[in-house]
Amino acid sequence: MPATEPSPGIRVPLRKGEAFRKALVSGGALDPSRKVCSDRNYVYLPVKELDRESLQLIAGLGEYEPISHQFAMDRRRVTVEDLLGRRTTYEVVGDIAIVEDPEEKRAAEAIMAVHHSVRTAIAPESEVEGEFRTRRFRHVAGEERTTTTHREHGLQYRIDLQGAYFTPRLGTERLRVAEQIEPGQTVLDMFAGVGPFALLYARRGARVVAVDKNPVAVSYLRENARLNRLEVEIREGDAAALALEFRDSMDRVIMNLPHCASRFLEPAMLAAKDGGVIHYYTFAPDDDLYRDRKVVEEAAVRLGFRVEFLYQGVVRSYSPRQSNVVLDFQVVKSGVTSIAIKGSRN
Ligand SMILES: C[S@@+](CC[C@H](N)C(=O)[O-])C[C@H]1O[C@@H](n2cnc3c(N)ncnc32)[C@H](O)[C@@H]1O
Repeated sequence: MPATEPSPGIRVPLRKGEAFRKALVSGGALDPSRKVCSDRNYVYLPVKELDRESLQLIAGLGEYEPISHQFAMDRRRVTVEDLLGRRTTYEVVGDIAIVEDPEEKRAAEAIMAVHHSVRTAIAPESEVEGEFRTRRFRHVAGEERTTTTHREHGLQYRIDLQGAYFTPRLGTERLRVAEQIEPGQTVLDMFAGVGPFALLYARRGARVVAVDKNPVAVSYLRENARLNRLEVEIREGDAAALALEFRDSMDRVIMNLPHCASRFLEPAMLAAKDGGVIHYYTFAPDDDLYRDRKVVEEAAVRLGFRVEFLYQGVVRSYSPRQSNVVLDFQVVKSGVTSIAIKGSRN
């Protein structure tokens, strides 16, 4: 085992070791990447930080001594941060690591040492850009490719990261919506990409129409539907136009095009049934997270509809001052005139 830098910990009498260890684990303060050790008199417990919260966990358990100790690394639990000696930013999609680090080769080595399934490391050469929301990448280490197979919630996705949009960071959000979907419900995924929302909902038993304008994304979406043996109606083209083919027929509409979803609100509302629910994603400044409620309400009023907001939440942080947020709302189409007028009077 290579020598490690000293890291924080506590030293406690041998007979008290287990009580202290349990208290630290229960509060998430024990450092899992380092090994607990002992000698004839003491147990040495590695902690993530010797801060006030950690010390509160062990208050009242007896005497201890804060220490800085060369704990051995627990190889099974070693993190990329341990190997690199600092934090870094990366994302793993299938067997590809997307690395964002000033020392990208070193970071890639550390990532590949910790994540044994990673075969390729790439670094973004551009932001997510253009109508198709794609990024350009350069090769950093391992096999030279941008295609992979990613697994999420029991489904498999073939992906070309350079040819179509995909991020695993929306996995929890996709599941949140999936849990609301009843078998037989109709769902329109207006910006489907390679299919991570659409296919998950098809597996829940929904009748899904998945639309995307990017031919590369659509070709992967078709392949992924086949791969997972799921039936989805797949349409290549502009969601604004295609949504109008499904007027008043959708129980749910997914609008995952956060940088400009507001432009598509009217066709989405027209596709929704009376009482249908729209899951609307956008980027917003952290000091005004739900400012798009107004935009949504205005679109509804233009169509003579009304909306009932059901849920609002932060999906993930997007940039230092911006978040990706979701608004779930119901579109009410019947008996609206009087309600809309009442709303505008207030
Ligand atoms: C942010 S990505 C989301 C993809 C997918 N929902 C996911 O979570 O991986 C937005 C997608 O919308 C597609 N798109 C952009 N403008 C479109 C339009 N007018 N009509 C249909 N699809 C469009 C892009 O090609 C891209 O695949």
